[in-house]
Amino acid sequence: METAVEPTNSPARTDPRPGRGGREVRGPVIVLVSRVLAVLALAVTLLQAALAGLFVTGDVEMLDRHRLGGTVLSVLVLAQLLTAVLLWRRNRRLRWPMAAILAVVLLTALVQSLGDRRLLGWHMPIGMAICAAEAALVCWAFLLRPARHDDAGEAR
Ligand code: HEM
Repeated sequence: METAVEPTNSPARTDPRPGRGGREVRGPVIVLVSRVLAVLALAVTLLQAALAGLFVTGDVEMLDRHRLGGTVLSVLVLAQLLTAVLLWRRNRRLRWPMAAILAVVLLTALVQSLGDRRLLGWHMPIGMAICAAEAALVCWAFLLRPARHDDAGEAR
């Protein structure tokens, strides 16, 4: 008697275990880079708040480090945007992460400019909002399920 053989490398295949549903994502290396960048960006935003706290409690040197942290964060969020574009090129349904990360890029530019002009009333809450957004992006990046078989020929 013949038994049906289920293809193991289908990109649309879902995990039958409860709670493990969802579609696989092509580009395991890009997924890994997205995770690393999201964790680094979250760590830098947390550090920014800590450095600001040290500065306002009297350690004036911390302001230089806070400025440097802002530059590092700007580079990280641009790298996140680039990886989101690369991920979208391999998985056309992943459009919203690009839009979300673009918003974070714009907020980071805004918070830099507000910091430069010492407009702390908006600088601080927007800085905290970036922190929350990066925490959400860490969750998103770790919830992605990289495809075990990366069918290069199916990339669109
Ligand atoms: C998350 C991204 C952030 C970026 C990119 C950023 C960037 C900056 C920049 C460029 C400055 C000006 C530094 C200088 O004058 O040399 C600044 C100042 C400052 N930032 Fe931030 N910041 C961020 C988050 C935060 C957060 C979360 C807080 C507080 C909760 C904060 C509090 C401050 C304070 C107190 C100053 C000093 C303003 C002054 O000179 O009186 N920043 N920031």
